[in-house]
Amino acid sequence: MTLPRTLGVCYYPEHWPEEIWAEDARRMAETGITFVRIGEFAWSRMEPTPGTYDWGWLDRAIAVLGKAGLKVVLGTPTATPPRWMAERHPDMFAVDREGRPRAFGSRRHYDFSHEGYRAECARIVTAMAERYGRNPHLGAWQTDNEYACHDTVLSYSPVALSAFRDWLARKYQSPQALNRAWGNVFWSMEYDSFDQIGLPNLTVTEPNPTHVMDFRRFASDQVASFNRLQVEIIRAHSDAPIAHNYMGRVTDFDHFKVGADLDIASWDSYPLGFLSDRIEATEEHKAHFLRQGDPDNQAFHHDLYRAVGRGRWWIMEQQPGPVNWAPWNADPLPGMPRLWAWEAFAHGAECVSYFRWRQAPFAQEQMHAGLLRPDSAAAPALGEAAQVARELAQMPEAGTGAAPVALVFDYESAWAWETQPQGRDFDYFRLVTAWYRGLRSLGLNVDILPPDAGDLSAYKLVLIPGLATLSRPLLKALEIHGGQAIVGPRTNCKTPDFATPVPLPPNLPGLDCTVARVESLPPGIEIPLQGGGAIRHWHEVLEGTADMALTTLEGEAAALRSGRLTYLGGWLDETALAHLLRKTCVELGIAVTEMPCGLRQRCTQTHRFLFNYNPAPVTFDGITIPAAGVHWSAL
Ligand code: GAL
Repeated sequence: MTLPRTLGVCYYPEHWPEEIWAEDARRMAETGITFVRIGEFAWSRMEPTPGTYDWGWLDRAIAVLGKAGLKVVLGTPTATPPRWMAERHPDMFAVDREGRPRAFGSRRHYDFSHEGYRAECARIVTAMAERYGRNPHLGAWQTDNEYACHDTVLSYSPVALSAFRDWLARKYQSPQALNRAWGNVFWSMEYDSFDQIGLPNLTVTEPNPTHVMDFRRFASDQVASFNRLQVEIIRAHSDAPIAHNYMGRVTDFDHFKVGADLDIASWDSYPLGFLSDRIEATEEHKAHFLRQGDPDNQAFHHDLYRAVGRGRWWIMEQQPGPVNWAPWNADPLPGMPRLWAWEAFAHGAECVSYFRWRQAPFAQEQMHAGLLRPDSAAAPALGEAAQVARELAQMPEAGTGAAPVALVFDYESAWAWETQPQGRDFDYFRLVTAWYRGLRSLGLNVDILPPDAGDLSAYKLVLIPGLATLSRPLLKALEIHGGQAIVGPRTNCKTPDFATPVPLPPNLPGLDCTVARVESLPPGIEIPLQGGGAIRHWHEVLEGTADMALTTLEGEAAALRSGRLTYLGGWLDETALAHLLRKTCVELGIAVTEMPCGLRQRCTQTHRFLFNYNPAPVTFDGITIPAAGVHWSAL
């Protein structure tokens, strides 16, 4: 599939005097921007007092942008309910794990389960969809803003409790069935009625893990239904595609479920903020990539959100300069705002939209760069955006390249290993991204698949680390898959009720392999493997007659294999993972390219792209790529 690719920017007309809108629009168009996202935080200006709308300014803003040839991405403002909403619905605030209501004064303070707030959202979205749904300058919609950001999915409020009880009653039908599923005979936790069930916070010691897992599933479903409410209203009035802007390394709700209701997945990419704030790496790695970002983190999310969007995805917010919210906020190396955009396009993005047009001189994000400085002079990223726009004119189409390897990603497994980590550093996202890194170090294109993927036929190699429960469709697909699959550690070790299955895991058809027992390992402890590298963090003792595919120095099985299926009983360090992946790829005839540190490649249908995340030039395949440089050549 080839799609047009283009640039966008996030703009807040309500932050600026109306007199400068036209000049802003002219400069955006001159830069080569197509889409302008507006509106997503402007509820207090759209509806200054309850039931009194003021659309005049928004009508004019859209008209000014449209006149300059720009298309608008219109955000629904439901992430920022205005102050008067709190008076109408004093109980609409989410409640944290300690039982404290969240306060007004920033954003995302609403509770997904509050019916009164949902009705207010339906009302404002209806008014917007009726007014702008057929506007000729409308290019797309965005629902809300970054669901889950600032830890806002789980709420321990009375309204959440009541909705959770309803959800449980629908799922289990009787308290007895729930007691059986949760194993409530343990510690005398049995219930006689759904009304007795509480939320899994404030317990003396850990709550029942199935209780926690059901609460997480419920909370995720609430996000999906909150989003669906808006989508259904918009669709009744508009044909424009609908997107949501997801975040990086946020696993608190099932993005595949939300994505199923949308036309486009988009995500907000802040490479330097994420490196500082949410990536496990050595100080040396963080220093080396300080001004460029981690070389694999963006690509992982691009591939993940391409899957969530079922092929259609954007960057809704691209970091242009320093952000304001990470522990340290470095300035990008010249070239990075261009590199980040091209990397997204090479992974199939239709649009890369920079956040934001002009740096705000007031309020929370004063220290966050934009394409313009607060005095309207160009900030460094403006010229880079213009350069990308000129380059796009030469290569206007994005084709998603085929991938020989697929990696399964599952949000429920992230909750599973938060609920029952068994070792402090067993983090699902970290596990999966370590595999992703290993594949990228071999120069491979990777597709991410949802946990219910039912067709693996496109892939020579499928990797399934840490998937708590293998779904039926995936199990079936594995049975008929002609390629290799590497499964584990911890894969299929829970039933859907979050119990330990008997027969013991992994219980894979055609593979005589049983996980006899497991242990977690503190930092610094490792179990060396024959052939190099070691097991860290997590180790399983495997029993069975299948062939040893990986062996510890002591001669114990670290992986067992039969035919096309390998079960891996541990968390491999970088060296061991690299060996295993390289060996498997060679065996399968998958061409690998050993990538130098910080250099990454991605092949589209037509081109090979090289991205240099290093602060110094790299010579590779006879090509010298400058620091923060991008190189492409036709295939
Ligand atoms: C995003 C958010 C934006 C802005 C930005 C700053 O998470 O969607 O509204 O706050 O971060 O980096």
